Amino acid sequence: MEKDKAGSVFPYNIVLIGFMGSGKSTVGRYLSEAAGLAYYNVDQIIEQYTGKKIRDIFLEEGEPYFRACEEAIIAGLAYARRAVIDCGGGVVLRNTNVACLKQSGKLVWLTAEAGTVYERLKDNTDRPLLRGKDITGIQKLLSERMALYREAADLQVATDGRDIPVIVQDIVKQLSIAR
Ligand code: S3P
Repeated sequence: MEKDKAGSVFPYNIVLIGFMGSGKSTVGRYLSEAAGLAYYNVDQIIEQYTGKKIRDIFLEEGEPYFRACEEAIIAGLAYARRAVIDCGGGVVLRNTNVACLKQSGKLVWLTAEAGTVYERLKDNTDRPLLRGKDITGIQKLLSERMALYREAADLQVATDGRDIPVIVQDIVKQLSIAR
């Protein structure tokens, strides 16, 4: 990849959106290295600010408090430059978040089938919204959000059965074409 004087391939932020288990964090870290961009993970920042794990925030403070934190962090990240911004799966639930992210970056939607999400996260206890959900439950939540992801996304990249470098290559290729 050819980098500019600032050492980065893209002169804008790359914002990763998509359902839980779509691989945003793994792809995000890999992409940031490959493209010479900073990396910000919204959930990690919320954990740093609150001193609590995401699952404890949901349990002790409730989802509305989490969503308010999420919105505040997204607003702050509007000032980030040349970064990969790795968002939690529910970021598209608020139009204000999407509008804010669109001002500074391109929104890349990483997709994954419900079965893939189930396989990737079945042993993970960090996702309060997936607790006790089987593939049908995941499919239901995914369907409820599908239109929001579609509407927000500038481009879409499938992750099912694909290795991380291949997904990253696909993102870079699509962004280069869209430039
Ligand atoms: C959520 C997704 C999670 C995290 C929180 C809520 C959601 O992030 O923000 O548990 O509403 O989809 P990941 O998408 O990184 O798992």
